[in-house]
Amino acid sequence: MDQKTTPPIRLETERARQVHSLFSGVAGNYDRLNTLISFGIHHRWRRALVRWSGAQASDSILDLATGTGDLALEFKRQLGPKSLVLGTDFNAEMLKTAPEKAKRRGMDVQFEQADATQLIYESNRFDVVSISYGIRNVDDTGRAIREIHRVLKPGGRMMILETGHAVNPLFHGLFRLYFKHIMPRIAVLLGGDLRSYQYLESSASEFPSGEQMVALIRANGPFSEIFARPVFGGVSWMYRATKS
Ligand SMILES: C[S@@+](CC[C@H](N)C(=O)[O-])C[C@H]1O[C@@H](n2cnc3c(N)ncnc32)[C@H](O)[C@@H]1O
Repeated sequence: MDQKTTPPIRLETERARQVHSLFSGVAGNYDRLNTLISFGIHHRWRRALVRWSGAQASDSILDLATGTGDLALEFKRQLGPKSLVLGTDFNAEMLKTAPEKAKRRGMDVQFEQADATQLIYESNRFDVVSISYGIRNVDDTGRAIREIHRVLKPGGRMMILETGHAVNPLFHGLFRLYFKHIMPRIAVLLGGDLRSYQYLESSASEFPSGEQMVALIRANGPFSEIFARPVFGGVSWMYRATKS
């Protein structure tokens, strides 16, 4: 399905403008580099996130900061044709390949431009709202969580997959070493831009994970249940929060 025309995106802060421009730069290479530098393991984590969401075959799903659409497509694959899946991102360049990917797989998934901090959807509309590797890039995390809460139906789930701090200090050190010094250089060798991949590292090391993230979600609720699960020792984390 083609992208619909939606209201123009207003980039309200300098950081939002910088992040937007950074993703315009990496968009063309994003899928290839993502798979190479993570050894493809992120696909497995998206599959697990969808299973953990408890989404049902006729549910409506909103995937925010969908980028090239992988999580939206994974929801559709697991839920089947009766589900309604909408993938959104504030960056049109990142979204470009998503409709083609859906078409190639024979999936009816809609993609459109939307800012996660200013959602263009009515309240209480979705059964699940998800965001993978997007929330740390959003300019105002609390505002995005409050918007997600607003558009979720009561009993609906917010599902987040995000990089985090490994629980084991040795593993944490090794992983940071890889992420800070090796991964950006591999990305450059493969045609990526060094500053973009350095930003991805610094944004990940500064962003809260585990209990700190749970506290941030709680402060922007109300959610009745909030669970956090480390993935691969805490290199990434999954969060599930149910709207009261
Ligand atoms: C690292 S990519 C993740 C893409 C995809 N979800 C994935 O798992 O591969 C981060 C995405 O967040 C998007 N993004 C950043 N801030 C946003 C915002 N305020 N609203 C919507 N999308 C945003 C970027 O355009 C980019 O596509």
